[in-house]
Amino acid sequence: MRVVILPNAEQASLFAAEQVKKQITRKPTSVLGLATGSTPLKLYKELIESQKRGEISFADASSFNLDEYLGLAPEHPQSYHRFMRENFFEHIDIDLNNTHIPQGLTDNPITSCEAYEAKILEKGGIDLQILGIGRNGHIGFNEPSSGLASRTRVKTLSPSTIDDNARFFGPDETQPTLSLTMGIGTILDSKKLVLLAYGDGKADAIKDTVEGPLSASCPASALQMHKDALVIIDESAASKLEHQEFYLHVERENQKLLKTLGL
Ligand code: PGA
Repeated sequence: MRVVILPNAEQASLFAAEQVKKQITRKPTSVLGLATGSTPLKLYKELIESQKRGEISFADASSFNLDEYLGLAPEHPQSYHRFMRENFFEHIDIDLNNTHIPQGLTDNPITSCEAYEAKILEKGGIDLQILGIGRNGHIGFNEPSSGLASRTRVKTLSPSTIDDNARFFGPDETQPTLSLTMGIGTILDSKKLVLLAYGDGKADAIKDTVEGPLSASCPASALQMHKDALVIIDESAASKLEHQEFYLHVERENQKLLKTLGL
């Protein structure tokens, strides 16, 4: 696992954007795994700006989102379909037919989840998956106790996730308590993982992810099993890491090596 600690969320988002830009430049037909939440917003803004500057294009790319609320229509203001359209897809040149998000309104969630897995395979798998992390260590909506080999399925949201997301729902809106989410096994199949976390509210989850035991109690700790996992965090999210100095040292060495190799 490569741990990159940057002074603030702004710089961390720019660093994350560089990873996506490199990916899409190297392989214009990249399959991107995307996330919702407040964390990737600055990353999306930077990618939108970069496309406007003509540095990159998503015209040949496709995408798969991690999750969606079960029961919410794509037009619902709190749906992740709407979030992705408003915060990213409407502002870039991606073909909407090549964007995929689990269907919140479905007669049969089980077959719908199986079809989602099949579609990812049909596209050749995800090249680079963006991840946020919950205060409880969840990735996607894989809450603590999720199977480390799980696939796309229906998951019940934990009380802490429901509390964290309550701020987005008005007093008259019913907040969903179920979701459709890629499984941890689905996420681990991505060729590259890029997890972002900002703020001291995420410090415990990051400590458990990077330095804790591999455990379903912290679903993000499954990244320890991945051969190409990059964790990009600000100093606040890094504040509880015991080996902070070592990660900073390793990254300085990485940068020297990448420069030597011209990468
Ligand atoms: P956040 O959510 O980016 O809004 O903090 C992350 C998550 O719950 O995965």
